[in-house]
Amino acid sequence: MSSVIDGKPLDGGEEYLSRNPARLDDVVAAVRLAGAEALRQAAESGRRAQREWAAVPAPVRGRAVAALGRLVEANAETLARLVTREIGKPLAEARGEVQEIVDTCDFFLGEGRRLYGQTVPSEMPDKQLFTFRVPVGVAAVITAGNFPVAVPAWYLVPALLCGNAVVWKPAEYASASALALAELAWRAGLPTGVLNLVAASGQSTFDGLGAALAAGLVDKVGFTGSSAVGTRIGELCGRYLQSPCLELGGKNPMVITPDAELDLAVEGALFSGFGTAGQRCTSLGTVIVHEDVHDEFLSRFDAAVRSAAVGDPTGDVLYGPMLDAKFASSYEDVLGWVGDHHTVLGSTGTGRITTGNPRNGFTGDGGLYYHPVVLDGVRPDDRIFTEETFGPIVGVTTYRTLDGAIELANAPGYGLSSSIYTTDPASAFRFRQGVGAGMVSVNNSTSGAEAHLPFGGNGRSGNGSRQSGMWVLDQFTRWQAMNWDFSGRLQKAQLDVATVEPDLGYRLSTED
Ligand code: UN1
Repeated sequence: MSSVIDGKPLDGGEEYLSRNPARLDDVVAAVRLAGAEALRQAAESGRRAQREWAAVPAPVRGRAVAALGRLVEANAETLARLVTREIGKPLAEARGEVQEIVDTCDFFLGEGRRLYGQTVPSEMPDKQLFTFRVPVGVAAVITAGNFPVAVPAWYLVPALLCGNAVVWKPAEYASASALALAELAWRAGLPTGVLNLVAASGQSTFDGLGAALAAGLVDKVGFTGSSAVGTRIGELCGRYLQSPCLELGGKNPMVITPDAELDLAVEGALFSGFGTAGQRCTSLGTVIVHEDVHDEFLSRFDAAVRSAAVGDPTGDVLYGPMLDAKFASSYEDVLGWVGDHHTVLGSTGTGRITTGNPRNGFTGDGGLYYHPVVLDGVRPDDRIFTEETFGPIVGVTTYRTLDGAIELANAPGYGLSSSIYTTDPASAFRFRQGVGAGMVSVNNSTSGAEAHLPFGGNGRSGNGSRQSGMWVLDQFTRWQAMNWDFSGRLQKAQLDVATVEPDLGYRLSTED
């Protein structure tokens, strides 16, 4: 595959092979990586196409979104299998991911018939005030590959519905899945140039984005990926007075109170710690368990992780391989952070699962598979406590008071997702008030957000932008305020305003 700009594939460029991480000799896509210029060119094409697209009535744009939803539904199984083959996510999760696109389309197809503005009373007679949502223009969207189709759809669907053009740069290692989604979007009736796909390396993307911003061709940047890259993108956009939509890393805490239902908590920790091999931005980072139930929780959690199925993602497994070799390698660095004061639990070994380093019940065959790790004895000054790990490892630490637990939950400075297991409503609400995360689960895992609640984080997890539901409309539209005076004379705001004459000195009688 290659970049597609104005409906035409771009020739040339360095070759990149997107491989199946469960069977590395299976090349899923041979990709031609374009240089920085392609991104600028794609933005220029978007600029040309956007005005006409914005002139299409929003309900009609909603029909294109509806068509995309139906096309995704009709191709759901093929798309899910492609996602599993390309990034190694278990098929059940891949099917859920595809469903998330359908849900997003179902939500936004109706938004085409809303996109409400307001009518607002004026402070003067014979004058009316209004607000309108206006598309931002061209959005450059850069996405990670752990959710290679759902998370891009969180950007593409509302951006297109609102009347913007989109330049989409997916992760190289998820190129085939990206092309499949783009193909469905083009077939849903988008005019040429309204959605352009760019295949490029990270550095070329950054350079191309800089050039496109400097040329005034990009009006909004959406980025899902690491906090380190998000910081660079934020700086770059700031130079052009733009505030990007940033969805970055997480170190998502799970607090377990002494009255919690421990089996439920174990189930939640298992899914959010090891689903997608711990490579979700919402994956569980550290379990913060009350000291009175620590031993009991730990032994149940260890047993659950030990007996969980790991292996071939086309089968019924908790998780499969790492997304790609670069994540396997960064996860190996993370394993180097394990220290002597930690207790390693959860499997028959650590590191890559091989014939020499086996795991019970393993069903994989030579791919980028790693043992799950439950790491007890984690301390607040451990790197494993403060940094996102993006792999199948969960830290465990203890607390004494709820305030102490909240302090630990906030300490790493991320703020994406969080969870508390408790049967005490006061603890749930105190945790919600105190935690800095954009998303809070009660008796549920840190991952698995629904597609129509605001999704996003604070601190190192983002710049406060929110995706999904009606909240994302503020990313892809700008408010325009209009005032219309039909009095036939100049009425000056603040100056020509009628007043009421209150008697502010009046007091009720205090006598009976
Ligand atoms: C991500 O990892 O970038 O809430 C998004 C969840 C998913 C989305 C994760 N619905 O876990």
